[in-house]
Amino acid sequence: MQYINDVELRDKRVFIRVDFNVPLDQDLNITDDNRIRAALPTINYALDERAKVIVASHMGRPKGKVTPKLSMAPVARRLSRLLQKDVKLAPDCVGPEVAKLARSLKPGEVMMLENLRFHPGETLNDEEFSKELASLCDIYVDDAFAVAHRENASVDGITKFAPMSVAGFTMKKELEYFRRSMVDPARPLAAVVGGAKAMTKLPALENLLEHADKIVIGGAMANTFLMSVGYEVGKSLYEEELVATANVLLRNAKRKGVKVYIPVDCVVADRFDPKAETKLVTVQDVPKDWMIMDIGPATSLLYREALSDCKTIVWNGPMGAFEMDAFSRGTYNMVSTIAQSYALTIIGGGDTDVAVSNAGETQNVSYISTGGGAFLALLTGEELPAVKALGGYQPPEKRAVNNE
Ligand code: 3PG
Repeated sequence: MQYINDVELRDKRVFIRVDFNVPLDQDLNITDDNRIRAALPTINYALDERAKVIVASHMGRPKGKVTPKLSMAPVARRLSRLLQKDVKLAPDCVGPEVAKLARSLKPGEVMMLENLRFHPGETLNDEEFSKELASLCDIYVDDAFAVAHRENASVDGITKFAPMSVAGFTMKKELEYFRRSMVDPARPLAAVVGGAKAMTKLPALENLLEHADKIVIGGAMANTFLMSVGYEVGKSLYEEELVATANVLLRNAKRKGVKVYIPVDCVVADRFDPKAETKLVTVQDVPKDWMIMDIGPATSLLYREALSDCKTIVWNGPMGAFEMDAFSRGTYNMVSTIAQSYALTIIGGGDTDVAVSNAGETQNVSYISTGGGAFLALLTGEELPAVKALGGYQPPEKRAVNNE
């Protein structure tokens, strides 16, 4: 894999694939622009090098159809403000008019393409569409880590036709933090995994058994694990079909010497409602008609203790239904444990970074990944199509040796 700073950009048309799939409210205001800010070093570098910059992203899942509320227009405006520079929004991402606009770009200018997913060829990784995208540029730069797990035309296909393909600084940073946390970590390495569904996290947990020294489980997915060791979880969410798999995972962990922590107490509610009646109980005492909404204080303490000697901590997924105040304490306790830790701390997955930022602890975490699905795919041990298309990731020291 080569990086943007390995190649000459001057006067070149540089196509920077970013992931500006940011949340919008109903008035199309951007509610979190972290992904846009994360790409600024790459875009600014290209501009400083006097490249002609073409920025491209998807937004939402328009399924190949032009969907006005998923236009890149609000993003182009925000990017323009952040760069303090005019950002032209093209009427489309391919076609003769866009090609003409790309050709007329001057060094130091920026153009943003319209939503790549307005064309079905994007998610189909269509060859013709990939060729059309590639024809816009001299150099393709992939800085879109958050979509690196998708075999899309602007991630994969384009690299077969662009004259040169390299990675941007966000991609580089994400892969390097992943290497430091999962491939070559300072030990003990702990993985904290939460969230609602065991189904989406079990493959990651299975892979984590091969890497982590400790695994800490929270969120509604912990209910499936509680069931698997014989506790009753009342009316809580759990996945019956995964109870046996969860039990096998716990037994495998024991065999491999990986310590797995599951809740010992919890906050239960009489209904799924912010105003529900609540109480604290041990996991042995969950009432039949109540549901588990958060980990309890004893669990938070146990988890803090378990993580206290760790030198690397990776966290994905909240400990409870933290969007409701009454059930947010477990997640915020985890934020505080991680923020106060001396470990290298890496966080990924939409909800987890929201919790960290709500708690004002963003600066106290080593790295917050821009990826949700892509971060989870890495935890699951998958090779990301984007990384493969760029020739695979090599750590800095290996590149140094190879370059000699
Ligand atoms: C994300 O937000 O995780 C990425 O932008 C990928 O989006 P997708 O899940 O719609 O492919």
